[in-house]
Amino acid sequence: MFSRIVGTGSYLPERVVTNDELARTVDTSDEWVRTRTGIRSRHVAAEGQLASDLALPASQRALQSAGLRPADIDLIIVATTTPDIIFPSTACILQSKLGIAGCPAFDVQAVCSGFVYALTIADLFIRSGQAKHVLVVGTEVYSRILDWSDRSTCVLFGDGAGAVILAASEKPGILATKLHADGSHKEMLCVPGSVNGGKVWGSPFVRMDGGAVFKFAVRVFEEGAREVLEAAGLKVADLDWFIPHQANIRIMEATAKKLGLPKEKLIATVHHHGNTSAASIPLALDEAVKDGRILPGQTLLLEGVGGGFTWGAVLLRW
Ligand code: ACO
Repeated sequence: MFSRIVGTGSYLPERVVTNDELARTVDTSDEWVRTRTGIRSRHVAAEGQLASDLALPASQRALQSAGLRPADIDLIIVATTTPDIIFPSTACILQSKLGIAGCPAFDVQAVCSGFVYALTIADLFIRSGQAKHVLVVGTEVYSRILDWSDRSTCVLFGDGAGAVILAASEKPGILATKLHADGSHKEMLCVPGSVNGGKVWGSPFVRMDGGAVFKFAVRVFEEGAREVLEAAGLKVADLDWFIPHQANIRIMEATAKKLGLPKEKLIATVHHHGNTSAASIPLALDEAVKDGRILPGQTLLLEGVGGGFTWGAVLLRW
């Protein structure tokens, strides 16, 4: 038994914030942000719009593209760092908004690697015969955990959601997966605050050592790609598309160069939604499926890296 993606969907909040708009409130410029990151604009959720609100239309679109109804789903996994509330999980809230009950639903917290982690778990559930149709979602409202007066972080992130339906299949599908984590790099990228006794202890905003993150991401992207390709007995030349976590175009292009992968095989959507953490890979995937770039039989490499540090890769045949 294998697993295969049979539907994709995504949702971006209505409000678009350009670099020029940010430059009115923090000391930055469109030129600085574009040349350092590739980002031109990002979407920002409306007041009161939560991770599950973004996940719902993304999930409905994925179900529609798979030709399935919510009742066909037998497992929901939501990757998010910005859940609606402390508990219940955003997956349980999404389940209720989809109008279904009974199937297991849980969140995965692996920051920007969350979607790759969630997809790997979904694949294991399907291959062990415990699920047939899994809804896997990445959804984030990073706008809530950004210090909008800190130019070194607020220009990088955005809000959005992407979803896929992973279904049991006699042919693959997912060819190989590899996950990693190294908690010793906690300080490199974190939101160090917590809630205690009704108060926030520590900072509730994203903190990052940008240069260190950049180097780490390029290194583990290259290692992860080679590792998962080897596990499937494939080579870089066998790849049709590389869909890395959409953090920064320079990280993605540097990785492609190290791998010897032509830039034309890189799917990059970061310019119009910024870094949407766990949502970024399914957002890029959905866009490339809908615009006809991704075709049946092609080989795709999805790679995530994020706070933790966590990283991982999923190699699949479309
Ligand atoms: N506008 C203008 N100037 C800025 C801004 C800004 N928005 N942000 C920082 N600067 C300044 C800094 O204060 C610094 O000034 P100084 O030299 O006077 O101290 C200077 O710009 C740094 O400039 P560069 O060295 O040219 O910046 P660099 O090329 O390192 O780019 C960046 C910085 C974009 C943060 C880069 O390091 C990066 O992309 N790192 C990866 C970060 C990332 O992608 N994080 C996402 C989360 S991680 C993940 O998703 C895996």
